[in-house]
Amino acid sequence: MATLKAVRGTRDLLPPETELWNRIEAAARRVFARYNFGEIRTPIFEDTTLFARSVGEETDIVSKEMYTWEDRARAQSEKTQSLTLRPENTAGVVRAYIEHGLGESGQLQKLYYIGPQFRRERPQKGRYRQFWQIGAEVIGPPSSGSETPLRDAEVLEMLATLLNELNIDGWTLELNSVGSSADRAKYNDVLRAALVDVAPKMCGDCQRRAVTNPLRVLDCKVPEDQPIIETLPKIGDSLGEDSKTHFAAVLAALDTAGVPYKLNQRLVRGLDYYTRTTFEFTHGGLGAQNALLGGGRYDGLSEAIGGPKAPGIGFAMGLDRLVLTLQGQEAAAVTEKVNAYIAPIGESLNAAALVLARELRKAGLQVELGDGSFRLKKSFEAADKVARNIVILGEDEHKSGILTVKDFATGVQSKVVRSELAAMLAQ
Ligand code: HAM
Repeated sequence: MATLKAVRGTRDLLPPETELWNRIEAAARRVFARYNFGEIRTPIFEDTTLFARSVGEETDIVSKEMYTWEDRARAQSEKTQSLTLRPENTAGVVRAYIEHGLGESGQLQKLYYIGPQFRRERPQKGRYRQFWQIGAEVIGPPSSGSETPLRDAEVLEMLATLLNELNIDGWTLELNSVGSSADRAKYNDVLRAALVDVAPKMCGDCQRRAVTNPLRVLDCKVPEDQPIIETLPKIGDSLGEDSKTHFAAVLAALDTAGVPYKLNQRLVRGLDYYTRTTFEFTHGGLGAQNALLGGGRYDGLSEAIGGPKAPGIGFAMGLDRLVLTLQGQEAAAVTEKVNAYIAPIGESLNAAALVLARELRKAGLQVELGDGSFRLKKSFEAADKVARNIVILGEDEHKSGILTVKDFATGVQSKVVRSELAAMLAQ
């Protein structure tokens, strides 16, 4: 029979790598708590319409990358419904914000999430069909201050802090403003007009985008198209006064806070809900898929899906890409060993070894438990791979309560009274 494998673009995450995943998630939770964010968990699948209306019908995500199916009715009271595995989490969060009337408190909502997302993209390094995002959204009625440039600056400053705390070296913050929806519509027209003459010389995707969604031409990665794209009108020239003032205030706050950034007028992002500030943090070590995270403002999203006016800003970090980046940096490559490996000598001591392991674990130590059927040599070899010390539990040790401990780093073997064992192993 053919062996079954994980589906293309998905993968199993195994120890010791999962330790790094947990470390990143724990650091993110710690930083989010300091900035007063609370966790939100939304369903992994949603009504397909949600993504079509928010992310946009013309985007790559909605037009070709979603996992969508007809969910058959199981009872007369149910309707057959088109459902989709979430390709991103902002739409779900804003849906939940509306559904639970979170804006009614008048308070700014600061919500974060950690979870898998699904896109049918061509798999490559740093790009998977099931991938993980750590994201956050700041959203509320305008009276809660949700629209002010300070919110943008605080989110960006938090991201710089988080990446630094994770010891990610050499990130770059790329920043742009795509303006209000009116500014974007104006720029789309300017761009469409400018593309009439040059589009026929561009790739097939660009030729299509030039008609359907000209903004997306700026995302093109085809090398031959780049010199043409460089000559196209820049979005900065289509921004209204309000958008310009807002963006200038974001930049001024970042300058004051000492957060470095690079302006990139081509950063329009692949989702249609963005307004005003858009950003990405990139890292050179990632290759073609170099965006560690992306985000921006979405001041009209709530209204686009039937909710009240609720400007917002947020981001999502690619957890798979954070892991890849840290693995590429030497420091993260070292895996931690547990405090001790307990080696019972003979199967009659297995139960006693279990009790000793329980004692040490209760004292907060990390302990691996061997097996009395192993020869001593095999126990030493097994212990050396996973633990800093081996604790030998033979008949003598069991009766006397004085254990034999070997420290692998120093090679020193010593006798330790059971009551002092935990303290000694904790060093
Ligand atoms: P996005 O740029 O589509 O934005 O994705 C954010 C990040 O998720 C990317 O920068 C990347 O690190 C990671 N990512 C995306 N696709 C993949 C993939 N196929 N494999 C691995 N990693 C991937 C959003 O999703 C927006 N919801 C972000 C946002 C939140 N904007 C406002 N609030």
